[in-house]
Amino acid sequence: MNKPRIDQDIVTRSVDQRVGELLGRMTLAEKIGQMNQVHSDGAGVDHLRGSIQSGRIGSVINEVDVETVNELQRIAVEESRLGIPLLIGRDVIHGFKTVMPIPLGQAATWNPEIVREAARAAACEAAASGVNWTFAPMIDISRDPRWGRIAESFGEDAHLTSALGAAMIRGFQGDKLTGRDSIAACAKHFAGYGACESGRDYAATNIPENELRNVYLPPFKAAVDAGVCSVMTSFSDLDGVPATANEFLLQQVLRDEWDFDGLVVSDWDSVRQLAIHGLTENDKASALAAVTAGVDMEMVGESYLHHLAELINEGRVDESMIDAMVSRILRVKVSLGLFEHPYTDPSTLPAIANADVMETARKAALQSVVLLKNDQQVLPLSSQQLKSLAIIGPLADAPYEQLGTWVFDGDERLSVTPLRAICDLIGESVNVRYVRAMKTSRSRASDEFDEAQQIALESDATILFLGEESILSGEAHCRADIDLPGDQADLVRHVAVPGKPVIAVIMAGRPLTLTNVLDHLDAILYAWHPGTMGGAAIADLLFGVESPSGKLPVTFPKMVGQIPIYYNQKNTGKPPSPETTVNIDSIDARAPQTSFGMTAFHLDAGYEPLFVFGHGLSYAEFEYRKLQLESPQIQLGDTLRVSAELTNRGEVAADEVVQCYIRDLIGSVTRPVKELKDFRRVRLVPGETREVTFELPTDKLAFHGRGGGSVVEPGAFHVWVGGTSETELRGEFRVISPTDEA
Ligand code: NOJ
Repeated sequence: MNKPRIDQDIVTRSVDQRVGELLGRMTLAEKIGQMNQVHSDGAGVDHLRGSIQSGRIGSVINEVDVETVNELQRIAVEESRLGIPLLIGRDVIHGFKTVMPIPLGQAATWNPEIVREAARAAACEAAASGVNWTFAPMIDISRDPRWGRIAESFGEDAHLTSALGAAMIRGFQGDKLTGRDSIAACAKHFAGYGACESGRDYAATNIPENELRNVYLPPFKAAVDAGVCSVMTSFSDLDGVPATANEFLLQQVLRDEWDFDGLVVSDWDSVRQLAIHGLTENDKASALAAVTAGVDMEMVGESYLHHLAELINEGRVDESMIDAMVSRILRVKVSLGLFEHPYTDPSTLPAIANADVMETARKAALQSVVLLKNDQQVLPLSSQQLKSLAIIGPLADAPYEQLGTWVFDGDERLSVTPLRAICDLIGESVNVRYVRAMKTSRSRASDEFDEAQQIALESDATILFLGEESILSGEAHCRADIDLPGDQADLVRHVAVPGKPVIAVIMAGRPLTLTNVLDHLDAILYAWHPGTMGGAAIADLLFGVESPSGKLPVTFPKMVGQIPIYYNQKNTGKPPSPETTVNIDSIDARAPQTSFGMTAFHLDAGYEPLFVFGHGLSYAEFEYRKLQLESPQIQLGDTLRVSAELTNRGEVAADEVVQCYIRDLIGSVTRPVKELKDFRRVRLVPGETREVTFELPTDKLAFHGRGGGSVVEPGAFHVWVGGTSETELRGEFRVISPTDEA
């Protein structure tokens, strides 16, 4: 993707000139003011008026009342000496008024186009409130479902996260940044935040450089290549140096290696937190550390505002450094066209929650739902065959809870709940009865369980709506036990009527450990938090209007002790196999230490997850055949074409996400057992066969090698194509260097 999202006209005519000119006219205090972001939290204009007038504020976060925003802009433009408009920041994470599935759900679509479309819709709605900067996408690799922020991520894989992160950026920033419905994106949190110890938010991260560069950094590089306007530092401490003061990350990697010329913003008060981390002594030292590392703007905290001038006067910070930082901030403002159009007129933008936006929300939800299990093909249900249906559970009719985390602006009145959608779809022909059974997903009261059981007994099928309320995931909402919360497992056991289909629809902000309910359920649709149109999508999937097509963007553990568990692990020197593993219950007393093999597994959990990365069933039946490689070997710099034949042997049309994995068998540093390299969502009607071809340029095989740089090492590779990371359709090829051939 080409980098510039900046309107060429403005660039050639004047971005640098205008920034340069402005900078030349700015006092030191005004420059420092641009580096200061303050929060509004809906408190109106008066508390900010004086500071804006005197040029001491560059950006305001969390003001979404359009009249207030316009007034803040008016003060900046008309009453401050230089008339510099404000960046208005907001966490537009997965929708604005209309809520799209949580990012982890969007990741399950494996569809960059729908992610782009969803972000486009969110940008239009947010722009109507005067927001011109969002703090998304969050592209932290997340291998720990205990971490509440896994909900905001695209899951565990660097390739998938890179593709979807770039798509989201394109959606927010639009075709050109000057568009009135374009908002600046922000790639966060740089870097390594998802690796917090024990999945506890804000906890330290210790990531060796090789892992950092091979796993955690690639999505950020992809974001930079996609032209992201800004990057946010992480709250976390990376190998002893908090990201907000981490010169290696911010200077060496981001600026020097990747040439990022956009704006770097701290996380909320993370500059002052450097002292709490124990890196600095006080706010002044924190300001020095952050500015030296390369943080251009401080998100609340005001340590820059209070200390930078002094640090410059003392000669500890060079004013030319400040000039470069302020230039980057002004550049974003100019590029967004804010100087030309500081004000927002919502009537010039598409209506909130218009039919197109709702359709995007429905499509995104539809493609995000993963069919984890479907014994005896109990799904889809047939409204012709059913006479009665029991709907049970705390999330069947919970308009707010289906929206998920980070919905500051989400309007729950727009939510279509599953109960409502099911009644709309089949309510005329099927007797639908509903018992909520639990007040919240965490309730520990079983007084409604008998009533729930009763309707289950009296109905032809039961659908349970289970999972987590919104508040159980997101920032600082981590869990150590990731079973279904409260008494939900008891509820499942109570209402599971043998001989009648029992289906669970699970809404959650993370993978849950479902081991204790799995055998009681005939089918499971995993819906994440599906957003405004979640109910409509779920109803269509339950009754076969559409086939499920989501695939897991993250591995589901059997039990929490397996975490971290992810598909692209290392082989180890002692890889486990069915022959070398046993179950703890089958071990004889005083069995000799080495009697059942000595490999990498847990006595009580084995080594396999409950559901693998890339898993997701369909109502169609897809058959993969005839893996073909254009050549058994390719030269460095060339492209290998890999294709496979996919046939829909089922009876319904459906989408399938075709996945392409490789393994680099021998490397100067050990390589994962499998790595996703490409994927494609295709739709096949019954009986249709399609050849799906992937192009693998050798660049895609590069990794951060032992020598320190990015390398493609000649040698043997495996390649797989299939509908899950566990596919068995495998080929082999070699990468050769020109000298090998000679
Ligand atoms: C803290 C979060 O870590 C970050 O992701 C968010 O954008 C800011 N707060 C602003 O709300």
